[in-house]
Amino acid sequence: MEKGKFIYEGKAKQLYETNDKDLVIVHYKDDATAGNGAKKGTIHNKGIMNNEITTLIFNMLEEHGIKTHFVKKLNDRDQLCQRVKIFPLEVIVRNIIAGSMAKRLGIKEGTKINNTIFEICYKNDEYGDPLINDHHAVALGIATYDELKKIYEITAKINNLLKEKFDKIGITLVDFKIEFGKNSKGEILLADEITPDTCRLWDKETGEKLDKDRFRRDLGNIEEAYIEVVKRLTESK
Ligand code: C5P
Repeated sequence: MEKGKFIYEGKAKQLYETNDKDLVIVHYKDDATAGNGAKKGTIHNKGIMNNEITTLIFNMLEEHGIKTHFVKKLNDRDQLCQRVKIFPLEVIVRNIIAGSMAKRLGIKEGTKINNTIFEICYKNDEYGDPLINDHHAVALGIATYDELKKIYEITAKINNLLKEKFDKIGITLVDFKIEFGKNSKGEILLADEITPDTCRLWDKETGEKLDKDRFRRDLGNIEEAYIEVVKRLTESK
């Protein structure tokens, strides 16, 4: 499958048309941003690692009945995906308190909770992806209540599958962000990526952070953390 016309450039990926109107090529870059673009840099080979990690995870999810936009990995940095119209929503799942929730509500990072927290944010760079609720999303025309219900159902399943997978490889899945889109048939599909850019992953034994917080918080050994995630996921395939 040949790369066609360039469609769009995001913070970590580029999108290209193909000769099939229902398929696109997603190209993974090494660029890293944090704080809605306030901090910019690159992580050596991140694109290669995130392409591989998303491939491994989306394949696993598909095997368990989750419909995703992923079709196949084409090479080191490119994957073939179904073309979808993305809901401008970041769906966030929290299993342990960390990050913006810890900060916003003054709760210590690492605090355990008995219930899973689902949040939605409006994908809008100008306003810093603000936290919204279902009623905002419906009022803004982002999704219907019915679509949100489906999105939460799929998200809960994904959380269970991911928690189990990461647990098996010695990693605690603290939180993560996913995105959904609709294909030309109107099916809701998991889209975007699931990588250390979009998840908080803590080593179960040492508590070491194996995710983009190493970049966000200048903790060093960023590439090594991503390499470790690829290694453990590959070994447990
Ligand atoms: O920053 P916050 O605590 O809200 O992030 C929750 C989770 O969502 C983290 O795993 C983070 O990596 C992910 N996230 C993301 N993209 C954003 C915001 C958050 O992948 N724009």
